[in-house]
Amino acid sequence: SRFFSYQNGELNCEGAGLEALAERYGTPLFVMSRNALKNQYAAFEDAFSGLDHFTCYSVKANFNIHVIEALAEEGAGCDVNSGGELFRALKAGVDPRKIIMAGVGKSESDIEYALSSDILMLKAESLSELRHIDTVAGRLGVVARVGVRINPNVTAETHPYITTGDSKEKFGIDEASFEEMFRLLGSLKHLRLVCLDMHIGSQIFDTGFFHAATEKLLDVLEATRSAGFAIEFLDIGGGFPVTYDPQDPATPIGDFAERLKPMLETTGLTIIFEPGRFLAANSGLLLTRVQYRKRNHIGKEFLIVDAGMTELIRPALYQSHHEILPVRERDTTMIADVVGPVCESGDFFARARTVGAVNEGEYMAILSAGAYGAVMSNNYNGRLRPAEVMVDQGQDRLIRRRDTYDQLIQNEVDL
Ligand code: LLP
Repeated sequence: SRFFSYQNGELNCEGAGLEALAERYGTPLFVMSRNALKNQYAAFEDAFSGLDHFTCYSVKANFNIHVIEALAEEGAGCDVNSGGELFRALKAGVDPRKIIMAGVGKSESDIEYALSSDILMLKAESLSELRHIDTVAGRLGVVARVGVRINPNVTAETHPYITTGDSKEKFGIDEASFEEMFRLLGSLKHLRLVCLDMHIGSQIFDTGFFHAATEKLLDVLEATRSAGFAIEFLDIGGGFPVTYDPQDPATPIGDFAERLKPMLETTGLTIIFEPGRFLAANSGLLLTRVQYRKRNHIGKEFLIVDAGMTELIRPALYQSHHEILPVRERDTTMIADVVGPVCESGDFFARARTVGAVNEGEYMAILSAGAYGAVMSNNYNGRLRPAEVMVDQGQDRLIRRRDTYDQLIQNEVDL
């Protein structure tokens, strides 16, 4: 991309050489491009321009407060999934009235925190949750603005772990409960319905699934209006795709906008979008060092790198493809399994992949790691969660320090 490219034989981020960053901060290291984030946000806004809408960055994709701040500066609100993500969004300086909270299992403390922070809305996913929010709001003496997440029963084609709009899944309120839901909403005194919401999954290539689910949402909107509720927002969630593999390019965001805008315009409501991956995935990469090269008796070659499933779990969890490039440009290639140091066979980034021929001690970049990378990292095997750097026009800035050994045990009570 424009933000990550080879210059004079070295991969760089917005003009900052990645080898120097690896050496200064150590590896594994997440590198985010501030202008890639801004550029993606601008592309999204451009696609949906002319439509009355409000874009809430889904912070679960990358919740570093500096990443949230960069997007908030451009005008984005935030979609949060827990009190912890709300805390992050507020720390990043996001206006509470631009924050919405989703989540299929909000705890009492999540709800209390959201209501007392006066965020724009909580989105409920069950009738029990509506009652629960009403009770908490009553106790706090406030009227809660709520949205309800509808399960449109549309099975979007993507990895089975990230399709969410099917009635087999735990998400949202299904058609059979709508009448009861309207009756309940009419009776609860501390709630005000302001939004209908859906989210059908993530990395969805086919605009048809969005179209079908939005049609269902519009039916529910009609029923909601007939039941006497005047709402302000319609939230169609996130899930807009990005390209991980150049062989398999994502449907352009403009195609989604073209298909959805005419339907959404008819509602007269403010449309909310919740992109996460679209903004963050290709705005970051994971830098890693080749620790060892190993060839076994069946001629298999392994590149054992210092990052693993503890830093980027996507290949292990979803068999997802991430491009891997040598930081120093290479003319020759090799076929190798690129694997991490964790003691699980699932700890791989690529299998039998043709990659630039690299030697021990050299660096590689695992691309498209800006979303669902650092946020899903963990300390398994006593691993230290990595440092994160943000580059802005060649200037690099540490935005997260690497974990320390002391941090590994800081919450364990003394022996
Ligand atoms: N809104 C809601 C209610 C969501 O649950 C999600 C993602 C989003 C928005 C943002 O979706 P996006 O625009 O990023 O597709 N860890 C998986 C992805 C899980 C997505 C969960 N929900 C992965 O690495 O592919």
